[in-house]
Amino acid sequence: MYSLKCIECGKEWGDDHYTCECGGLLEVRMNLDEIEVDFKLDGNNITVWKYKSLLPVKMDPVSLGEGGTPLYRAERLEKETGIRRIYIKHEGLNPSGSFKDRGMTVGVTKAMELGKRAVACASTGNTSASMAMYAAKAGMRAYVLLPAGKVALGKVAQALMHGAKVIAIKGNFDDALRIVREVCEKEGLYLLNSVNPFRPEGQKTIAYEVADEIGVPDRVCLPVGNAGNISAIYKGFRELVEIGLTESMPKMTGIQAEGAAPIYRAFVEGKDDVTPVKNPETIATAIRIGNPVNARKALKAVYDTKGLVEIVSDDEIIAAQKFLAAREGIGVEPASAASVAGLRKLAERGDISPDETVVCVVTGNLLKDPETVVRVCGEPVSVEASMEAVLNSIYNLV
Ligand code: F0G
Repeated sequence: MYSLKCIECGKEWGDDHYTCECGGLLEVRMNLDEIEVDFKLDGNNITVWKYKSLLPVKMDPVSLGEGGTPLYRAERLEKETGIRRIYIKHEGLNPSGSFKDRGMTVGVTKAMELGKRAVACASTGNTSASMAMYAAKAGMRAYVLLPAGKVALGKVAQALMHGAKVIAIKGNFDDALRIVREVCEKEGLYLLNSVNPFRPEGQKTIAYEVADEIGVPDRVCLPVGNAGNISAIYKGFRELVEIGLTESMPKMTGIQAEGAAPIYRAFVEGKDDVTPVKNPETIATAIRIGNPVNARKALKAVYDTKGLVEIVSDDEIIAAQKFLAAREGIGVEPASAASVAGLRKLAERGDISPDETVVCVVTGNLLKDPETVVRVCGEPVSVEASMEAVLNSIYNLV
């Protein structure tokens, strides 16, 4: 059905591995010639598990109803940018409020198949919330390492309430990932970061769903942090072409925050790997990552599809978050808005054609990060409990 191969040297490994002895990441290769694809791209019954024949698990999934997220047409954004068709894939409407649920339903199901009792991850927040939720459903213990003081409150709340052991380290995400990899190795915990080759397999269903609903767009635009998602979506579209269900590839377009942009720097210099950024910083804490583990895969996806990588400032991110929320009715967290901020910038500069059909993936829900919202929007107006006071406030008399 599939094999697990090193992306650098091609060596084959068994299920219970994440990296090769050469240091390369492992990737699932579905045996597409042998697989009987049992779904049609007809727009019906869209969920992650519609595509089970292309997912590397056998048992009944540990599922909470992930996938099948709305794909909205963003008409005001089209008008503003001059781009003919823009769709927004709202991944914030997954069960835990982010796209991570797609990877976790597959990753935790694989953990069950392997007989694991405990799972672990490092996270900027969403991975931990999702992992805690799916571990709860599966009846497994969950251990989470977070960069102290740099994770949005809603995400920490989720991980805590779903019963994970949450450990805040005095370091950044890159430190947390390095440590959790060592801990997992030593203690036999099952690592569920995107270095785990089964996680991206779930995330590739974003590509399947988009193709199912509107066919293959000209471009997919998304925020990039650890670079797992852009690599996974690329893989999904590539597989559909290999099977013969579709014919083209979208230009994979990654957007990074200005203060955490190692992949952008590599792209500008035409390199196939990154120089890590030591002290990454951005208001979009979800993508505050300086040493993305999937960088090589992501750069390949971009080069192979003649895509782009762009950077956006914190101000541009917040402006896009406000535009989506107040003009399109789509509530997302700051990192997610980076995709739209990047699209606006590329359109304004004339780097993308007005004739394109573009899908922006927005990755996490507005409710994840209420503290930033209050910071950028201010507190509600407070008035006496009377109609006069309310009317005065509405008409701005006081
Ligand atoms: N958007 C959101 C809301 C995220 O939480 C993340 C990553 C990304 C975009 C970037 O995705 O890492 O695949 O390039 N969050 C991870 C976490 C790192 O721990 O929750 P990526």
